[in-house]
Amino acid sequence: MKKLRLGIIGFGKHGSHYVRRYLETDDCENIELVALAENNQTRLDYARKHLKGVKLFDDAIEMLDSGLIDACQIVVPHFDHSHYAVECFKRGIHVLCEKPLCVNASEVRKLLNEHKKYKDVVFGVMLNQRKNPLYIKLKELIDNKTYGEVKMINWEITDWYRTQTYFDESYWHGTWIGEGGGLFINQAIHQLDLWQWLFGMPQKVLTKFGYGVGHDIETEDEGVVYLEYENGTRGVFVSATDRVCGRNVLEIYTDKARISVEKRRIVINEIIEDVKDLENDYRRMYKKPKEKETVIEITEHDPKHEGVVNDFADAVLNKKELKIKAEEGYNSVALCNAIYLSSFLNKEITIPCDEELYNKELEERRKNSHYREKARNSLSGILSSYDDGVINGYTNRIIK
Ligand SMILES: NC(=O)c1ccc[n+]([C@@H]2O[C@H](COP(=O)([O-])OP(=O)(O)OC[C@H]3O[C@@H](n4cnc5c(N)ncnc54)[C@H](O)[C@@H]3O)[C@@H](O)[C@H]2O)c1
Repeated sequence: MKKLRLGIIGFGKHGSHYVRRYLETDDCENIELVALAENNQTRLDYARKHLKGVKLFDDAIEMLDSGLIDACQIVVPHFDHSHYAVECFKRGIHVLCEKPLCVNASEVRKLLNEHKKYKDVVFGVMLNQRKNPLYIKLKELIDNKTYGEVKMINWEITDWYRTQTYFDESYWHGTWIGEGGGLFINQAIHQLDLWQWLFGMPQKVLTKFGYGVGHDIETEDEGVVYLEYENGTRGVFVSATDRVCGRNVLEIYTDKARISVEKRRIVINEIIEDVKDLENDYRRMYKKPKEKETVIEITEHDPKHEGVVNDFADAVLNKKELKIKAEEGYNSVALCNAIYLSSFLNKEITIPCDEELYNKELEERRKNSHYREKARNSLSGILSSYDDGVINGYTNRIIK
């Protein structure tokens, strides 16, 4: 069967994971990794030494012009995503871009409009958490209103723990100039995407960020966001990269139930008597309505990033409809922009936010920000993904 000839731009922490997936496992059978572009010589030398059969480039444009690839995965820092995506479009190369598509929603719109000129180019975004059967099941329950309307949402996602080394080895993470933010634009954006996918876009947000609280970084490493909907539904989103023993717990209160989502379980506590009768019964003023508990265990495999890559390959090779189109990457960025603007101005922000103001405020911070130049040649990121080999199921076919 014909495989998709793929090139990757960026051989860093995440790019090296994809490289290993494609070269060392059978998870993405329709992918043939033929080329890799990395503009850092130290990292390129490492690739030269360890990757056989993959054509290496120090200039991504040369890789795009080489005629070797039909599709490209963009795995570089955020502000370069749209540039390379457009360069791919122009050459008829299909694109799978990392999240966030861009840092600014205005840039995402520009990019999506540009893509409209290239109808034959498949353009996807890596929103890997959407492949998780846990959230797919939850979405089904919410969309079908199985337990009524959503009234309150509480998402605590504090298990994005990152060490200081994660930042010290990177020239751009945790800097305004390179990343355009921190925890929210990089890690928590995954759950913000799920949030808007499950519950829709809120009308207002109010944010309190902690900047460089547990790490020596410029950007936020913890934050609390209050989100409110036009119909009165409200929620709280709490996240951190600097808290130990963190967890990922989503609790949804509907008309009839509390739905708790953690690990691979959905636990539903549902009332089994009519609240209206209870409301009017003075003898039961302090009594909670009777409830029953149902547990849904998710046993299905979560295909994660590989699931998104396989859908992308299927769309290109077999002309199947792409499951997670680039357009899906817009709302999480728009929501993120409003959340940051609320923190910048220390006030409640209505969505869509004033983009000009957000862009201006962000640029102010970028002007006074610096790359961590010393980290440019660090190999720790790549090595750490190699050391994770056993957990990730790699066969170590290509290492050291
Ligand atoms: N979907 C996910 O779960 C997930 C997880 C981690 C990272 N990411 C995304 O992946 C991207 C990369 O993150 P990372 O943590 O791997 O960063 P990283 O710094 O470890 O790797 C980026 C690599 O790109 C290289 N690079 C930069 N500009 C380049 C250019 N113009 N041409 C060629 N190479 C270039 C850098 O030298 C570096 O090696 C980011 O967009 C991040 O948000 C996504």
